[in-house]
Amino acid sequence: MAEDLTIITGNKTEQYQSLIPQIKGLLDGETDLIANLANLAAGLKEQFGWLWVGFYVVKSIEPNREELVVGPFQGPVACTRIKKGKGVCGTSWAEAKTIIVPDVEKFPGHIACSSLSKSEIVVPIIRNNQVVGVLDVDSEELDQFDGVDQQYLEEIVNLIPF
Ligand code: SME
Repeated sequence: MAEDLTIITGNKTEQYQSLIPQIKGLLDGETDLIANLANLAAGLKEQFGWLWVGFYVVKSIEPNREELVVGPFQGPVACTRIKKGKGVCGTSWAEAKTIIVPDVEKFPGHIACSSLSKSEIVVPIIRNNQVVGVLDVDSEELDQFDGVDQQYLEEIVNLIPF
């Protein structure tokens, strides 16, 4: 397992292309979910310096009732639980698709965990046709996420042995 991340400068594509093999090294042979989510959040935060990077995991509250519960993350303290269909994360879960929000103030129902967050991308983690969690990334800058982030973050979440 790689223990030091090599951080590079360069455009977004170059940064993802440098990071992905290192992420594969971090995940290689490790099956513990918390360990893998924690290292992934740290790796993404180190390379990109975003405000908040982390995971919400779908958990059963009682039979037939599930919520997203915050998992490993890097950044300011965040909301603990999110219901299906609520906020960007709950919408990504309900629709099983990646959501890019260029300006969080223009997303109806956006859940403001940090007033510093200006734009956001949420990528669902799908296994056996079910959303099992989401990767959430927040930036202090408007309009920080695009199709390049979507492509590589979807590739990254697919590497997680969930
Ligand atoms: N903004 C998210 C909530 C999670 S925090 O940003 C960490 C949402 O609207 O779902």
